[in-house]
Amino acid sequence: MERTLVLAKPDAVARGLVGEIVSRLERKGLKLVAMKMVWMDKEMAERHYQVHKGKDFFEGLVEYITSLPIVAMVWEGPSAVSSVRAVMGATDPAKASPGTIRGDLALDISNNLVHGSDSVDSAEKEIALFFKPFEIYDWKRPGEEFIRGK
Ligand code: RTP
Ligand code: MG
Repeated sequence: MERTLVLAKPDAVARGLVGEIVSRLERKGLKLVAMKMVWMDKEMAERHYQVHKGKDFFEGLVEYITSLPIVAMVWEGPSAVSSVRAVMGATDPAKASPGTIRGDLALDISNNLVHGSDSVDSAEKEIALFFKPFEIYDWKRPGEEFIRGK
């Protein structure tokens, strides 16, 4: 089953929106299989966002993501990568649809509350940056066949 990395970013932690983010992903039907609070250092932030190295927003992005602890999670489900990104909404909250996390709860592209991996390949790499294999749980939810199919 597909897995993806989600980060509740510093603004989500500061604004008390971690529970709201978790709740929306739970209600979607995704399954939480790992979770912890992490205060990223510069090196870890630069690794996590290496694809954006050289872009004009890169330094600000590293400064922002390291400014406070974040909450890192692994979510599992059918098409977990694209399902999470649908729940998050577009990168720029000003363009994100109502009903999405960013569309409902944010205004500014640099403070867009959540991160979700953008492909299965990057999910694997990002999950490995935040979690050791034993920190990720394989567990069965009673009745989960009603959510994810057989
Ligand atoms: P994320 O990686 O955080 O899940 O967000 P994303 O895929 O929707 O967006 P991405 O293009 O990967 O950009 C990563 C993060 O960089 C910040 N950003 N700022 N000021 C800007 O123009 C700008 N563009 C991107 C955002 O925090 C974005 O989430
Ligand atoms: Mg991205």
